[in-house]
Order: sequence, then structure tokens, then C-alpha cells
Amino acid sequence: MSKQSQPEKGTPQRPFVLGIETSCDETAAAIVSADKQILAHRVLSQIDAHSAYGGVVPEIAARQHISNLDHLLRDVLDEGEMTFRDLDAIAATTGPGLVGGLMVGVMTAKAAARAAGKPFVAVNHLEGHALTARLTEDVNFPYLLLLVSGGHCQLLAVRGVGNYERLGSTIDDAVGEAFDKTAKLLGLEYPGGPSVEKAALSGDENRFPFPKPLLNKPGCDFSFSGLKTAVRRTAEACAEKEGALSHADRADICASFQKTVAECLVNRVKNAAAVFQEKAGTGKFPLVVAGGVAANAYLRDKLETAAQDEGFSFHAPPMALCTDNGAMIAWAGLERFSVHPETDDYTTAPRARWPLDTKAAPLVGKGKKGAKA
Ligand code: KG4
Ligand code: ZN
Repeated sequence: MSKQSQPEKGTPQRPFVLGIETSCDETAAAIVSADKQILAHRVLSQIDAHSAYGGVVPEIAARQHISNLDHLLRDVLDEGEMTFRDLDAIAATTGPGLVGGLMVGVMTAKAAARAAGKPFVAVNHLEGHALTARLTEDVNFPYLLLLVSGGHCQLLAVRGVGNYERLGSTIDDAVGEAFDKTAKLLGLEYPGGPSVEKAALSGDENRFPFPKPLLNKPGCDFSFSGLKTAVRRTAEACAEKEGALSHADRADICASFQKTVAECLVNRVKNAAAVFQEKAGTGKFPLVVAGGVAANAYLRDKLETAAQDEGFSFHAPPMALCTDNGAMIAWAGLERFSVHPETDDYTTAPRARWPLDTKAAPLVGKGKKGAKA
């Protein structure tokens, strides 16, 4: 996405904030303005560097961020026709994530901020996903957020900038992780989510009745590890019967897997909606879906239908802003900076774990970007 792809919006309004994202395998940066214009936007994917390993290798990711970030920032400033001095603040993802990559982004942002005499804003990556819908649409607080990415799967009540209550989370695997592992064991290309979605297009979603962990149970938590095991057993059984996994089997497994995930997500969202409604004491509110898995058209469709059934408005960022990007970090930084103009997080260090709801019980496990949540 570039600023040319946006409708003409007139002179951008200050503050202008640069956001840097290096928490996983995308090196990304963007500049946004207070009136929601994306003035510059670049994402450099590291897919080629990691695909041979079937997942993100932290050491390789950190080295790639070091090689890429300087020229990426030059390109972003050129596209925005700015220098660092024209900005009002510089934000960077400071956690949760892979610490090597976080250090590259945070140190670069702090150095640029000090040299240009601008404040540094430490952004929580999850807050970036949580607030993106407010950049791309006019979504007001409070809203119910389904945050689904490679390292996280949570339902949150979002009541304001910095005001998050976790209503539920995965007790084992994150949903993106389940997509990635399913793809890997079926021999599909990395990253897994888009590969599974593509393969599912030609599959029969009713062929394999996979288990639906926690379905129709009370509460808002998720569980995907049993589903992943069932996928593995089914793939092994198909391969044993026919000598090798056929194209049709693969497609049917992907379609059945995706359908199961959708049913689980919809069921949990409905429970969370009831909890949220009771706490908020109001009838209707927005349902926002964010994170890399929100780029999945099939899941978006099912969640949108569920929202409509319940009478809630449905919001999901455009596909390109679901997966990790700099605009979401710039926007979360801008929202924080607008509420607290005195912000300067120069002494804040990168953190591998950083829950959005700091009052919720700690999460167990260890996903690719910190606690599985
Ligand atoms: O938000 P994100 O870019 O990084 C994290 O914060 O984790 O999410 C990446 C995750 C990966 O697990 C990837 O497989 C998944 O999002 N993903 C998808 C799709 N596109 C990306 N999952 C399902 N369908 C997709 N189309
Ligand atoms: Zn993310």
C-alpha cells in the first residue's frame, strides 16, 4: 500500500508519527497523520530467508532487520517527503516479540528521535493490532476485539487507549500457529495461513469432522492443539491408505480445518459478546477482528455473518494492514501521543513479553512472540 492508493484527503493534520515494526519477520515502517492519512508505508517481508526452515529463525530475523531498516527508513521518509525533523514523534514496537529484532527497531528509533530532538514512543505490538481499525475506519470505543495472529489469540474489551480487559485467550496454541503447523505437516508453503486458505478453496469442508475444542462450553477461551493433532492423524491416515497425500486430500483437510477454526472462533466470539454486553450495559457495539489471521477471507466472512446475526457492526482492517506493518505501530504511537503529549519512553527497554491487559493472570506457554495468548 502506498499513499497513492488512498483517496485524496487534503492537507495532512499534525501530529505526524513514524512507526517502526521489527518484532518478528517483517521489517516495516510508515508515517501516519492525525487525520488518518498514511503518508508513507513500506513492508519488507523476510519470507525467502525463513522459508527453508518452515518458520521464523530469530537470529536470521534480527540480522535481516539490521540490513534492511536503514534503507527502508530512507524510502519511507522520501515517500512522505520529510526528514526526521518534520515528524512529531517516532514510535517503535518495543514488545512483545523476538528480542533481537525488537532491539534493532527500538535502538534505531531512539537514535533517530534523539538526533532529531523528537520524543520516542514505545508501542506494544498487540496495541498496534488492537487500534488499526481506528486508523482505517471510524470505530469508537468501546469495542470487542478478536486478536488473532501467529503468536496470539485473545478476546479483549477495548475501552480506550491503554484500557484493555482480556476476556479470553488460547490455553495452548495461537490460531495462526495452528494454520502454520497445519501447512507445515501437509507440505504446504510457508507462511502457512495463506497457503492453507488457498488450498481450502478447492476442498470439501465437510469431509473431515475434526474435533472442536471448547465448543459450546462456557467462557471465552480457545484451544487449538487437539485440532492440530487431529489434522496430523488424518493426514497420516490418508497418506497410508493411498501411498501419499493426494492434492484432493490436502485440499479437503485444509477446508475442514478452516471450517472448524471458524466455528470455534464464532462460538467464542458469541460468548464474549454476551460478557462484553453485560459489562458494558449497552445493546450494540462494534466487533473488530485484527492480526494476521484476520487476513483470511473465509474467516472474515463467517465472523461478519456472526456479527450481523447478533446485530453488531463488523470491522476488520484491509488485508495489507492485518499482517504486521508499520502503519499500525505509527497509529498506536499517535493515539498514545495524542492522549499523553508529554510521552517520551526513551528509557523503556524491549520486552519479549508484554500483555495488553496487565491485570489479567499471566499466560502460560511460549509462542513465537512471547506468551501464547
Ligand atoms: O500479525 P502477524 O503478521 O504476526 C504476528 O503478530 O504473529 O500474523 C502472522 C500470522 C501467521 O501465523 C500467518 O500464517 C497468519 O497470521 N496468516 C493467516 C493468513 N495470512 C496470515 N492465517 C490464515 N489465513 C491467512 N490468509
Ligand atoms: Zn502481529
